[in-house]
Amino acid sequence: MVGGMAPTSPATEPLITATQIAARVDELASEINQEYEGVDELVLIGVLKGSFIFLADLARRITVPHRIEFIAVSSYGATERTDHPGDVRLIMDIRHPVNGAHVLLVEDIVDTGYTIAYLQRLISARGPASLRTCALVRKLERAEIEAPVDYLGFDIPDVWVVGYGLDWAERFRTLPDICVVDPNKSATESDDEVGIS
Ligand code: IMP
Ligand code: MG
Repeated sequence: MVGGMAPTSPATEPLITATQIAARVDELASEINQEYEGVDELVLIGVLKGSFIFLADLARRITVPHRIEFIAVSSYGATERTDHPGDVRLIMDIRHPVNGAHVLLVEDIVDTGYTIAYLQRLISARGPASLRTCALVRKLERAEIEAPVDYLGFDIPDVWVVGYGLDWAERFRTLPDICVVDPNKSATESDDEVGIS
């Protein structure tokens, strides 16, 4: 056995269950399959790290021929982000060019909207044939700039969520449900994190 003590139990409450997520992912994939019918190739760009589970599930339900790319951007924790709104940095680019390609950006969550707006600007400047965005969850109340989402899983209130790829200080990404982190039990470590989305 590696390590001594068992991890402390996660201070989380389910908000969207794995069953609800699976049903919604099916619906999103059906919509995408219909709207891209006849397209030779769709490029799915997953935004690391948070989208890795969502992308894996969604992509396996997409029947349109597609390839997968990943992109990574840095984002700031709650405290820092309010001091530098919109300060998004590219830390890993996609491998292959997307000019002339049909591109679908796949994000875990849209919070202020800065990350997705940054990625939309970045990719659209490269001349794709089309560019759309799919996000699993969105916190509508938190929107600071306009960042259109073409395919949306769920709108949620202004709470910090984890699971299904989403993290809190790198923890809880592999919880099957999307859960709310209890700020009273978790507050000491939740702010001032600088990390990869
Ligand atoms: P933005 O504020 O829309 O730019 O969102 C930036 C990034 O913050 C998202 O892509 C997520 O990686 C992260 N994020 C925002 N809210 C949450 C949350 O509730 N749980 C986990 N990650 C989040
Ligand atoms: Mg993200």
